[in-house]
Amino acid sequence: MEKKRIMSVFGTRPEAIKMAPLVKELAAREELESICCVTAQHREMLDSVLEVFGIRPDWDLDIMTPRQTLSTITSKCLTGMDEAIERLKPDMILVHGDTSTTFAGALSAFYHQVPVGHVEAGLRTYDKYSPYPEEMNRKLVTSIADLYFCPTELNRENLRREAVTDGVFVTGNTVIDALKTTVREDYVFATEALNRLPYDSKKLLLVTCHRRENYGQPMEDIMSALAHIARSYGDVELVYPVHLSPAVQECAKKHLSGIANVHLIPPLAADEMHNLMARSYLVLTDSGGLQEEAPALGKPVLVLRRETERPEAISAGTVKLAGVKYDDIVSMAEELISDPAAYAAMAHAVNPYGDGQACRRIADAILWHFGMGGRPEDFRPR
Ligand code: UD1
Ligand code: UDP
Repeated sequence: MEKKRIMSVFGTRPEAIKMAPLVKELAAREELESICCVTAQHREMLDSVLEVFGIRPDWDLDIMTPRQTLSTITSKCLTGMDEAIERLKPDMILVHGDTSTTFAGALSAFYHQVPVGHVEAGLRTYDKYSPYPEEMNRKLVTSIADLYFCPTELNRENLRREAVTDGVFVTGNTVIDALKTTVREDYVFATEALNRLPYDSKKLLLVTCHRRENYGQPMEDIMSALAHIARSYGDVELVYPVHLSPAVQECAKKHLSGIANVHLIPPLAADEMHNLMARSYLVLTDSGGLQEEAPALGKPVLVLRRETERPEAISAGTVKLAGVKYDDIVSMAEELISDPAAYAAMAHAVNPYGDGQACRRIADAILWHFGMGGRPEDFRPR
């Protein structure tokens, strides 16, 4: 029997973290050959993930430049993918999520008439500028894809409303599979300073912020709200691994450097980040991935965005939309810092996004597509 060659295409940190366990699951299936093409839309932040998960790409487009624009990312990916697909001849291409790499990877697969599997399909806000450009990227990939791996039932329902019903699977999110490999109770940080943080005597606030739609005034307001919170509460320690985007670096430093209980640190390796989250008190973020990981770890989240395509944990009560206004962020954070009842109401572990079996279901669904196996069961949260 000839193996089907499945090429995973990814380029940014979150795609890599969420595709890593799938790349490995595919490699473990004897009917499949798992190959990997990275665009390196992110360079350092991608390489860090590849190292943590021990993945060596078969092809590397190496496209990143400082302050890259959406057009240059997309055009460089498209041009580079031509050669990768012609040389590696995949039977199927997998893309993940909603980045420019995701869109260009899917479009390139279509140009070469290679079927596309969309991992993390069906998330929507229905606002084309929020998240920007991710909402549109995800919708465009929906038009191109042949197989849809939805994390949740709600994501499948979103696709159904767009009349997309064939080849749709509810698998759970692969990020929960990744978390299960990284988080350990006895974990010792490689970043020595993280071992010395006062986890028991202080409240650790873990912060990330990078979204393009937050650039400018929203990000200024977010950062100054964070500075106010840190200055107001001596029992709080704010740890912020700052994204390498120059726009983010400048804004974070402007508002948050020089405050004694604020730690602006370089991006953390995925295993360090996941274990730091597991020991934190509260997460404040505009990240997509953190909104999925923190609930699984029982950590309340304040989302620093106007809306979210991940409403499941809001319904479950562990995530709140704080928005991007100074007063709202300050008052919602203050409540969780100073009111134990309000905190306790949010601090419980829920797993609306997965059970750690997403990669198995996706690999089974791919085999089903090729007539090599049965249809996997749907993920259902317990
Ligand atoms: C991208 C994705 C976004 C995702 C985010 C995850 C798009 C349009 N955006 O946004 O959906 O949430 O990744 O983090 O696809 N940089 C480095 N080194 C790195 C990574 C980035 O120096 O390892 C700097 C570069 O100057 C780069 C800039 O950050 O030009 C922005 O990177 P880019 O991928 O364009 O945008 P993100 O905001 O990271
Ligand atoms: N992450 C990480 N190191 C960091 C910050 C985040 O490993 O310093 C991880 C985080 O745990 C999650 C993913 O990166 O798995 C989220 O990526 P990001 O916030 O950059 O993108 P998004 O999810 O918003 O697209």
